[in-house]
Amino acid sequence: MHLCMASSSTAIIILMIFLFISNNIVNATTSANLPKGDMDLLEFPLNLEYFEAEYFLFGSTGKGLDSIGPDLAAGGPPPVGAKQANLSLVVKDIITQFAYQEVGHLRAIKKTVKGFPRPLLNLSAGSFASVMNAALGNPLSPPFNPYANDINYLLSSYVIPYVGLTGYVGANPKLESPDSRKLVAGLLGVESGQDAVIRALLYERANEKVVPYKLNVGEFTQKISQLRDKLGNNGVKDEGLKVPMELGAEKKVAGNVLAGDPESLAYGRTPQEILRIVYGTGKEQVPGGFYPKGGDGVIAKSFLKRGSI
Ligand SMILES: *[C@@H]1O[C@H](CO)[C@@H](O)[C@H](O)[C@H]1NC(C)=O
Ligand SMILES: *[C@@H]1O[C@H](CO)[C@@H](O)[C@H](O)[C@H]1NC(C)=O
Repeated sequence: MHLCMASSSTAIIILMIFLFISNNIVNATTSANLPKGDMDLLEFPLNLEYFEAEYFLFGSTGKGLDSIGPDLAAGGPPPVGAKQANLSLVVKDIITQFAYQEVGHLRAIKKTVKGFPRPLLNLSAGSFASVMNAALGNPLSPPFNPYANDINYLLSSYVIPYVGLTGYVGANPKLESPDSRKLVAGLLGVESGQDAVIRALLYERANEKVVPYKLNVGEFTQKISQLRDKLGNNGVKDEGLKVPMELGAEKKVAGNVLAGDPESLAYGRTPQEILRIVYGTGKEQVPGGFYPKGGDGVIAKSFLKRGSI
């Protein structure tokens, strides 16, 4: 009896080892087809995709990747301070869809490159409050709470998918393999869609005050976009929901439901610019903000190392 149980558990362990090895062989062969530069560029966006997956999962369902896709978290630390937001049914419904889309994005990237485990993310209300304080140039009182209601949650969501989108636009021309470019185009399409939905929902309410502050929704988006441009430190690549007419499409409109360059093409950003923004420090060598220990992967780590020398 005992012997029988022992041998069946041995069999299970052997099977698990076999599955583990075969899984790794599959990973190795898929990523071996890609040039090293492509692999580095493809793993980099995992930093943002983890952020979005956790923020949207917690915001809409109150649960994160550890409940919904623990294999994808790959043992990385759970996010700090993420929680369910106080959302109306329609916004909750939309954010739940975004959340599962991000889970798919993580899986798609990790099927292609080995990547890295979930980095430490600080998704506390205080993290977002710091971004808003920096954007507005003075501390809001009471502090901005991203989890309080639809408008606050959508404004906080305005902060990230757009940055991911500019990263995909920036990465695409640097990729050598058509398989890499296909993956990035697929990710870009849906990230842009998410950004468009967030912007459209906010656009409808652009003139509403962000209670209890003085500024309205449109003004908040302008301030957030200006902050990102300042942190990214490479010109205008970000625009709020209302712009001076010179920045509108064909200089004909001040409404700006989608951001775009003078020919209404999406702006692209380099990994350095993205890290400067998401760290909130303006320096790719100095982690902070949502990423207390910095991003992971070859590209993000190469800057962190240089910063510490
Ligand atoms: C997360 O951010 C908040 C607000 O900035 C800060 O008080 C807290 O120490 C941070 N936690 C970690 C683990 O970085
Ligand atoms: C949740 O949001 C609704 C609608 O914006 C608001 O009236 C209510 O006060 C909020 N509840 C909490 C606990 O913040």
